[in-house]
Amino acid sequence: MQVLTINGQRRELDVDPDMPLLWAIRDVLELTGTKFGCGQALCGACTVMVDGMPTRSCQTSVGDAAGKPVVTIEGVDGKVAAAVQAAWVKLDVPQCGYCQSGQIISAVGLLSQNRKPNDDDIDAAMSGNLCRCATYHRIRGAIHEAARMLEA
Ligand code: FES
Ligand code: FES
Repeated sequence: MQVLTINGQRRELDVDPDMPLLWAIRDVLELTGTKFGCGQALCGACTVMVDGMPTRSCQTSVGDAAGKPVVTIEGVDGKVAAAVQAAWVKLDVPQCGYCQSGQIISAVGLLSQNRKPNDDDIDAAMSGNLCRCATYHRIRGAIHEAARMLEA
C-alpha cells in the first residue's frame, strides 16, 4: 500500500511503488487535468508540484512521492496560483490547452520563488514546458501580468 498526500488529501493506493506518479494521478485517482505527453521528462505536460517544486510526474515514482505533498492542477491554490490563473484568463493564453496545466504549475513554481522574473528568468523556468500551439509569447506575458497582480 502506498500513501500519497494529493491536494491536501491522504490517499491510500494499492499500487507498485515503482508506478509513475502520473499513472497514479490520472488512472488511479482520476485527476485527469495532468496530461501525458512524452513520458520521458521532455515536454512538461505532466508537471505537478512535489514538495513545492514543479516536478515531471512521468519520471517520478509513486514511492518517491510518498510522504511529500503533491499538488495537481486541480489543487493549486493560494495567492500566486490565483494571480497566475487570473492572468491566464486575462491574456487568453491557452490554444488547444493540452500543455497548459503543466505550464501553470511551472509558472506558479517560478513566481513562488521569484516575484519579479525578467524574460530570461521566465524562459529558463519554462524551457522544459513545450507547447505545440506555440503560446509562448502569451505565457510570458501572463507571467509578467501575474507578477504585476502580486505586486498590487
Ligand atoms: S509526459 Fe512527462 S515530461 Fe512529457
Ligand atoms: S496550448 Fe496547445 S499544446 Fe500548448
